[in-house]
Amino acid sequence: MNRRLLFIGLATSAAWALLHTPRGRFPWPSRNTTPRPVALITGASAGIGAEYARQLAARGFDLALVARRADRLYELAQSLEAAHGVHCEVIAADLAHDEGVSLVEARIRTMDALAILVNNAGFGTIGRLVNVDPGRQQEMIYLHVMAPMRLTQAALSGMMERRRHGAIINVASVAAYWRFVGNVNYVATKAYLVAFSEGLQIELRGSGVHVQALCPGFTRTEFHHTEEFKKRRARQYPDFLWMSAEEVVRQSLDALGNGRVVVVPGLFYRALVLALRTPVISEALTRIGNLLFRS
Ligand SMILES: NC(=O)c1ccc[n+]([C@@H]2O[C@H](COP(=O)([O-])OP(=O)(O)OC[C@H]3O[C@@H](n4cnc5c(N)ncnc54)[C@H](OP(=O)(O)O)[C@@H]3O)[C@@H](O)[C@H]2O)c1
Repeated sequence: MNRRLLFIGLATSAAWALLHTPRGRFPWPSRNTTPRPVALITGASAGIGAEYARQLAARGFDLALVARRADRLYELAQSLEAAHGVHCEVIAADLAHDEGVSLVEARIRTMDALAILVNNAGFGTIGRLVNVDPGRQQEMIYLHVMAPMRLTQAALSGMMERRRHGAIINVASVAAYWRFVGNVNYVATKAYLVAFSEGLQIELRGSGVHVQALCPGFTRTEFHHTEEFKKRRARQYPDFLWMSAEEVVRQSLDALGNGRVVVVPGLFYRALVLALRTPVISEALTRIGNLLFRS
């Protein structure tokens, strides 16, 4: 019985993954749109955030780049200004604390042309809750939950009243759908971002503001470069599990405005998320996850 359900689940997952082509109808600016719309990206100093900056600059957006490492942001800003003739503002802020979030929140409230907010900044830790540094866990919850919620709230009135369109992209993870040991706060904060995005899109129906919860799987960035992830040899996981930041962001932007809140880049991960939402399969995958990620 379980085997039959497993088979049906896997077959449905595969069919859904193959059929699902997430293309959207977001009103992208043309080269001569004035004033140029602005995209604010958190965590723009590396990885997925830096890639959003590159692709949105290429699509004609001025940028506001947020992270702690200002030197990296200035370097990126200079190269994008030179390559695309757009204007890039650098905002150095630590979004794991109230002061940094207040600074960016205040700036957002004055941005008339803000059209896209990408809540992307994030990090992971490894270890059971009982063993990990409580301060770091608190910072994670602030960075993944409080910061996106407050920045979204600050951006919304301007998008709804002044522009009558816009987009909020919350970078979650496929981990939002999985439960496994050694990462409970990461999983819970990413699940928050999915639930928050889905609920918010219902509230915003008809407003012209699109909400997306992007759920990438393993993506080649600096995320796994920390000592904890090096010990786990995460970067040696098989090649087929990894996507490039370029592909992940391209799929996110192509899907904007397609009516779907949750966007999962890659056929493999789309099938995995569907499987994780199917009870019998989800139980099996939880057991596998606990073996793979035990710590
Ligand atoms: N890579 C993956 O496999 C993967 C998979 C699923 C989801 N994600 C999610 O994707 C998002 C981006 O991660 P990534 O893979 O691009 O990792 P990354 O290369 O390590 O980049 C993380 C970015 O977040 C910023 N950041 C971290 N702590 C911050 C803080 N306290 N305040 C402000 N900015 C902060 C970093 O900038 P500074 O250090 O300069 O502040 C950096 O720009 C994260 O939310 C992550 O959870 C990643």
